[in-house]
Amino acid sequence: MSEQSNAPKRESFSGRNAFIFAAIGSAVGLGNIWRFPYITYENGGGAFMIPYLIALLTAGIPIVFLDYAIGHKFRGSAPLAYRRLNRRFEMFGWWQVIINTILATYYAVIIGWAASYTYFSLSSAWGKDPKGFLFGEYLKVAADPGVGLDFVAGIVLPLVGVWVLVTALLATGVQKGIGKASTILMPLLTVMFALLVVYSLFLPGATKGLNALFTPNWEKLADPTVWIAAYGQIFFSLSICMGIMVTYASYLKPKSDLSGTGLVVGFANSSFEILAGVGVFAALGFMAQNMGKEVSDVAANGLGLAFIAFPTIIDQLPFGNALIGLLFFGSLFFAGITSLISILETIIAAVQDKTHFPRAKATLVVCVPLSIVSVLMFGTTTGLPLLDVMDKFLNNFGIVGVAFISIACILFTGSLKTLSDHVNSVSSLKLGKGWQIVLTLTTIVLGYMLVSELWKVANEGYENYPTWFVATFGWGMLAV
Ligand code: PFF
Repeated sequence: MSEQSNAPKRESFSGRNAFIFAAIGSAVGLGNIWRFPYITYENGGGAFMIPYLIALLTAGIPIVFLDYAIGHKFRGSAPLAYRRLNRRFEMFGWWQVIINTILATYYAVIIGWAASYTYFSLSSAWGKDPKGFLFGEYLKVAADPGVGLDFVAGIVLPLVGVWVLVTALLATGVQKGIGKASTILMPLLTVMFALLVVYSLFLPGATKGLNALFTPNWEKLADPTVWIAAYGQIFFSLSICMGIMVTYASYLKPKSDLSGTGLVVGFANSSFEILAGVGVFAALGFMAQNMGKEVSDVAANGLGLAFIAFPTIIDQLPFGNALIGLLFFGSLFFAGITSLISILETIIAAVQDKTHFPRAKATLVVCVPLSIVSVLMFGTTTGLPLLDVMDKFLNNFGIVGVAFISIACILFTGSLKTLSDHVNSVSSLKLGKGWQIVLTLTTIVLGYMLVSELWKVANEGYENYPTWFVATFGWGMLAV
């Protein structure tokens, strides 16, 4: 009780709907729009749906329940809630807070790009050579891109704008800031994205793109990396084992149907990303047909898909490129903002529980230094390569690592019983032995993912992760 005695009263969402919008807002993010389509494409197309759905049902949704149960029962930020579950578990919460801290510095950058690209698509500023324009100057892949006025206006200012916007929203409070923003932005995002997908489906060549995306390559199912990719996508996309869902669930009213809500959020998130896959590949099909190429020649991966392929598509559209640019990059922007809010809230809540600072102060203490680091790191000359390394490292070791250790410890110490009793006392769908079985299975898969990544690094060297990066990160982790 002592932790609570001088703490400000805990905030909450006004009701289940506000929570659902906020949780879907957190889940539906950059990962759904730019990550899912190319991960699916690279990992067997239609056949990828099998490991993906298995990962959703056996890992994604069961862990959403777990996160909700911890946050809702123990009503605290990740470190505090884990600590109340078991004193020795507090470090899992802090590990997640650190992951969110690192993630926020570059996640904001991509949202900043989305903001400036919304503007560029209105003005078609990239001219006829999106590749040269974007990679050379804007995304800073070129060896010496130079820091010109364009760069400040196109990258630095939007990034600062993103930070100012999210800081203001977060300082306003859980319901007034996060709840309200999500309740407005999520329906808007859904409408914008639905319009975009419908429009893409009517483009000439759309079916060519859909065939490329969904034609199954069954052999891929025998490849373990495809299964790893499916689990990785589910973790990233659902924002699970990151302390995010724990934090949001701690703001949910005591009588709330946890498992029912978890199902809604899990399926909504997957529906959104499958829709994104359809929209993105229909548009790629159009581009391939227009250029007389194959879809495989034009399907860039990762950030390239959103920031190179899409501008190219937009430039080639028969009419209304401004509208489509606005819909695509505007969607990316809104989806990103509601996710960034959740990433930052996880840190702010932890700081608040530790220091009992009022919300506005805790928000500033977190957001001001982070925004400075983010702008300095990505507003200077490092850019995309650094972002790529950080993203890989964070996903393959950070999230998978904490997920593996925390779930294994919860299972091992028998804490799951406390959590299932809690979920069952408030929810319509009851959790039983099956929950424990799928979580055990997931722990094994996570352990395998971790070992295989370590194996890869040991065998292939550090080329994916520069030595200086591993050393700094490793020491940081040890220090914690
Ligand atoms: N789930 C969101 C997305 O898919 O972009 C936000 C997010 C949360 C991304 C947690 C990554 C992550 F590790």
